[in-house]
Amino acid sequence: MMLSDSTKARFDCEVAKYPADQKQSAVMACLAIVQQEQGFVSREAEDLIAQYLGMPPIAVYEVTTFYNMYNQQPVGQFKLNVCTNLPCQLRDGEKALKHLCHKLDVEEGGTTADGVFTVQKSECLGACADAPVMLVNDRQMVSFMSPERLDELVAMLKAQAK
Ligand code: FES
Repeated sequence: MMLSDSTKARFDCEVAKYPADQKQSAVMACLAIVQQEQGFVSREAEDLIAQYLGMPPIAVYEVTTFYNMYNQQPVGQFKLNVCTNLPCQLRDGEKALKHLCHKLDVEEGGTTADGVFTVQKSECLGACADAPVMLVNDRQMVSFMSPERLDELVAMLKAQAK
């Protein structure tokens, strides 16, 4: 794997936002760029980013593994992150997760055989008052996920699947 010129140009735009001796501050943005272009961040890509930013690879791995918006392996077209932290847990977050896994016939953390859905647990999404909540593709927050609402959401996403 190599970084393309266009990827490097995008990295450079991010690096330029920080003082020259603090290139590593662009690590999150560079990881996001790789994920956008390739769908996930491979170990190889992490190593290339480390090299590019002049930081130890372990410091990049720490970022990738800390934030669950970074996919460390390929995911389905729709990544469903169900919050199972305490406030959501108290309002059936775990039940929502189990309902989804059962409905889609997938293990927690896994991807459906047709590659459409990945279901995984997530840490607090900062919307505890709307519990249980989940995040679709790291962008769209959905609230009060009762089994009925989950069924509606799955049907809607299935209709949009490529
Ligand atoms: Fe689920 Fe905060 S605990 S959003």
